[in-house]
Amino acid sequence: MTGKAGKKKGVHTISLGKVRDKRGNLSVVESGSSIPFKIARSYWVYDVPGGEARQGHAYHKSEEFIIALSGSFDLLTDDGKKSSTIHLDRCNKGVYIPSGTWRHMINFATNSIALVLASTAYSPKDYIRDYEKFKELKEAGEI
Ligand code: TYD
Repeated sequence: MTGKAGKKKGVHTISLGKVRDKRGNLSVVESGSSIPFKIARSYWVYDVPGGEARQGHAYHKSEEFIIALSGSFDLLTDDGKKSSTIHLDRCNKGVYIPSGTWRHMINFATNSIALVLASTAYSPKDYIRDYEKFKELKEAGEI
């Protein structure tokens, strides 16, 4: 049970399924099948003080899939037209975020771990850190 990436294009949750076992449950992400991109990079955010937030930003190119591996947090997304808040608190459910989406992680519970799978290698140039700039690029159809 690896879950399946659907044909949806925008921000959406993907259920990864769960292999139940009395020795402990197991969930899997397969590059390009459970999620709609090939994974180039994985990173995780941890030791976040309770109630803390991570800075908002968007990417020119990178797509992401975000899972709360432990604990919980709220994921805020904005594609220029529609914004949403998704509470993540399961390690077998994640959110796909296309490129050109503003995203912000807030309300971390103490000891939470956010796992981020990304479609590109790290590049500071891929970041859009200014919300007004993000809106301009969106309106111009550049992202
Ligand atoms: P950043 O993405 O700016 O995190 P946030 O927006 O949540 O504060 O990353 C924080 C720091 O970590 C930044 O100095 C760059 C570094 N970093 C890497 O070196 N490689 C990576 O893949 C990522 C995501 C960050």
